[in-house]
Amino acid sequence: MKWLCLVMSVIVAFVIGYGCAEKEQSQTATGTDLWKVISQEKPYTEWGFFQGAEGVMEGKAPHGKFIRAFVNRVGLEAQGPNYPYGTIIGKENFMPDTTLAKLTVMYKVKGFNPDGGDWFWAVYSPDGTVEMEGKIDNCLACHRLRKANDYVYLHSFKSE
Ligand code: HEC
Repeated sequence: MKWLCLVMSVIVAFVIGYGCAEKEQSQTATGTDLWKVISQEKPYTEWGFFQGAEGVMEGKAPHGKFIRAFVNRVGLEAQGPNYPYGTIIGKENFMPDTTLAKLTVMYKVKGFNPDGGDWFWAVYSPDGTVEMEGKIDNCLACHRLRKANDYVYLHSFKSE
């Protein structure tokens, strides 16, 4: 009977270990969950700004005429070359008359998309409706040009 116990323990340990390892390796994200985090659990309006990109500033196409990009603490403390997992950058995009048009978000999720810096992309309307989410080619097409700075425009770890 002893050996059976041993075998069972090994199997159980393996299954549990494997389950945990899987969790470690890659995580998933959804636009709805992310909205809950940035609007309720850790409201983005309480985050900070990248140095030199504080408050409302003029944006470039395709983002709003005016933008304001908030960065959570994990992202602000990043030393490079990449942002740590858990970094979230939430950018408000305003119309020329300063009404909020959209919120565009980048969220660093372990294993989400290794070909694209593991960034999860999302676009929200001001009421939190998810308009686009995931591996959005359109976002990557531009942001990939900033690959040396982990796909981020408003802050540089190194010059390109
Ligand atoms: C045509 C190029 C282009 C495309 C397409 C684009 N972006 Fe950007 N993005 C920029 C530029 C340039 C900035 C710097 C801020 C600015 O000037 O608006 C920026 C800034 C950002 C930021 C603030 C962090 C940073 O990189 O500085 C977020 C978040 C963001 N974009 C999300 C998105 C999402 C989500 C999409 C797709 C729906 C997207 N972007 C598509 C060019 C682009």
